[in-house]
Amino acid sequence: MSGVDHMNSKGGASGVKAEAQRSLRIGVIGAGVMGSNHARVFAGLPNITLVGVVDPLPAHRTRATDLTSCRTFARLDELIAEDVDAVTVAAPTHLHHEIALACIARGIHILVEKPIASSVEEGRDIVAAARRAGVTLMVGHVERFNPAVAAIKQAISDEDILSIAITRVGPFPPRMSNVGVVIDLAVHDIDLIRWFTESDIVEVQPQLSSAVAEREDIALLQFRTASGVLAHINTNWLTPFKARNVTVATRGKYIMGDLLTRQVTECFGFQSDGSYSMRHLPVGHDEPLRAELIAFLDAVRSGGVPAVTGDEGVASLEIATRCLEAPARPAAASTPRKGPRRVVA
Ligand SMILES: NC(=O)c1ccc[n+]([C@@H]2O[C@H](COP(=O)([O-])OP(=O)(O)OC[C@H]3O[C@@H](n4cnc5c(N)ncnc54)[C@H](O)[C@@H]3O)[C@@H](O)[C@H]2O)c1
Repeated sequence: MSGVDHMNSKGGASGVKAEAQRSLRIGVIGAGVMGSNHARVFAGLPNITLVGVVDPLPAHRTRATDLTSCRTFARLDELIAEDVDAVTVAAPTHLHHEIALACIARGIHILVEKPIASSVEEGRDIVAAARRAGVTLMVGHVERFNPAVAAIKQAISDEDILSIAITRVGPFPPRMSNVGVVIDLAVHDIDLIRWFTESDIVEVQPQLSSAVAEREDIALLQFRTASGVLAHINTNWLTPFKARNVTVATRGKYIMGDLLTRQVTECFGFQSDGSYSMRHLPVGHDEPLRAELIAFLDAVRSGGVPAVTGDEGVASLEIATRCLEAPARPAAASTPRKGPRRVVA
């Protein structure tokens, strides 16, 4: 049943209240790293039934059952036959399009993991199908639900933003999919830049390099938004430890956020003698994925606009795709870099 339909089917204030509390039947598609987390979080949420998890791999189904005690299915149509209201799609990205369209065709609300699809065209297809069917479509840009990111967003809400710099680096992932750092990592930060500035990215200046992997594993990306903000993303898989840092310069403040330790500090009260004040901002403790999934369920129940729309997911993918138009040149090095080599094509 679509968000639009089920809102219309209930009359008056009591109907709206009942809708807001309606128990939902939920499924998770894909029980890998992200899907297992989705299932774990759903299993602990009130007012829903985790109907089951779909994964073609028996070992992943067993892991999901051990984690959540929920039922598992080898095929999507087995889950759909269980009459689910909503699903999250955490299968590999190249399957998002096919899986999302199959669910939308059955009137099932979907949260699709980021990136929304393998290509902008496929992403647009999903958005158009969801719109036609009247189902809720949200994209899993989970970083927006990081309390440190929320604190930064709050701190800059009335500010004139000048520049944003984001660092998202770390070692090679243990299992490499068929995408490089731009689609895997930078797409998070492209979404944050668009969200912080509430503006579209209109200029893209990418520099890509492949030091170890076949695809780009180092990216320095520069952007200009329609509102005139300059932004920069530094991302790679060649750093031995994870770092996620955001700095935002506005006319009145300089904000520094560590998305891992969740410490957010702002400098303000700039004086003509160069002095200024500094303070740590309060940051919440929510698990980002839990907050994201609650936001999705709220959107399904209310039929309202989800926190991250399909159009936003497509817009971020479009910018990431434009960045990939730059050639990923081999990194200049007289001796080959020694480092993580756990790369599976
Ligand atoms: N939001 C984030 O921070 C974040 C982080 C990691 C991954 N992701 C996204 O989540 C998705 C999954 O990534 P992952 O790291 O969990 O990958 P993964 O390889 O660990 O898991 C994918 C799972 O999907 C299963 N699968 C394959 N075909 C399927 C099908 N037809 N139906 C159902 N399941 C199927 C696989 O067996 C596997 O268990 C990707 O789109 C990825 O970009 C998002």
